[in-house]
Amino acid sequence: MAIVTGASSGIGRELTLLLASQNCRVIAVARRGDRLDEIVSRAAHGNVVPIVGDVTDAETRDAAMNQVLKLGGGRLDLLVNNAGIGGIGPFAEAESQRMRQIMEVNFFAATEWTRAAIPLLKSSTENQSQRCCTPVICNIGSVLGHCAVPDKSEYCASKFALHGWTDSLRAELSSHGIAVVLVSPSTTRSEFFESLVGTDANQQSKSFGSWPPDRVAHSTLAAIKACRREVILSFAGKALVYGDRIAPSLMSKALAKR
Ligand SMILES: NC(=O)c1ccc[n+]([C@@H]2O[C@H](COP(=O)([O-])OP(=O)(O)OC[C@H]3O[C@@H](n4cnc5c(N)ncnc54)[C@H](OP(=O)(O)O)[C@@H]3O)[C@@H](O)[C@H]2O)c1
Repeated sequence: MAIVTGASSGIGRELTLLLASQNCRVIAVARRGDRLDEIVSRAAHGNVVPIVGDVTDAETRDAAMNQVLKLGGGRLDLLVNNAGIGGIGPFAEAESQRMRQIMEVNFFAATEWTRAAIPLLKSSTENQSQRCCTPVICNIGSVLGHCAVPDKSEYCASKFALHGWTDSLRAELSSHGIAVVLVSPSTTRSEFFESLVGTDANQQSKSFGSWPPDRVAHSTLAAIKACRREVILSFAGKALVYGDRIAPSLMSKALAKR
C-alpha cells in the first residue's frame, strides 16, 4: 500500500496511475476532489482510494493514515511526499506569506506526513514474509534544492530544507530497514506554473529541456524500486547541479547575470 500526496495533477497523478497499474493500492491525496475522482475512475483494478484535503491539515493526514489501518492492516510500503507549490519574484518585494506558504506545503507538511507514516512503514518491515520490497519514503525535491537560483528564493529554501532533512532521515532510518529516496526533477510540464503563490501574472520561468510528468513518474518509480538514495533528472537538471558542484563561483556569476 502507498500514499501519494499531490496526486491530482502532474507528477503525482502519473505516479499514482503507474503504481495502480502495477497492482499497488494507492491512497491519493489532494484538495481537488473532482480530479481525484477522475483518477479513481481511470486507475487499474480499483486501486486508488481518494483523500480530499490540504496536506498542511492534520485531519487530512489522519484520514490517510486511518485508511492504511483499515485497508492495509496498518502496513505501509511507500510514502511519496510530492505535493508542492512555487512562487517567482524578488525576495525583497514579496509578502512574508509567500515564504510561509511554500515552506508549509513543501517542507513542514512532508515532515509531518513522514512522522505519522514511520510507525506504519516500520510495521511493514516487521512482516518480512508478507512484503515484497523494502518500505520507502520518497521525497520529491527539485534540482533547485541542490543549486539555488535568483527570484525563486522561497522555493529554493523549501527544497534545500527538504534535501537536508531527507539526508539526515535516510541515515536515521537505515537501521530500521526503511529506505529514503530523494528525487530531484528539473522543469516539468505540469500545472505547477499555473498556481504560483504571491507571483505577478507576467512572471515567466525560463527553462530548457523540460520533461513531461509521466517521464518523471517512470524515473521516480525506478528510483523507488532500486532504493536509490538520490536521483537528479534530465540533462538540464544534471548540468545545473553538477556545474554548481564543480564550479560554484562561476555558476553564481552566470546565475546573477541571468
Ligand atoms: N513542475 C516542475 O517544473 C517541477 C520541477 C521540480 C520539482 N517539482 C516538484 O514536483 C512536485 C509535483 O509538482 P508538479 O510539477 O506535478 O505540479 P502540479 O501539477 O501543480 O502538482 C502539484 C500537486 O500538489 C498538490 N498540492 C499543492 N498544494 C497542496 C496542498 N496544500 N494540499 C494538498 N495538495 C496540494 C496539487 O493538488 P491540489 O491543487 O488538487 O491540492 C497537485 O496535485 C512538487 O513538489 C514540485 O515542487 C516540480
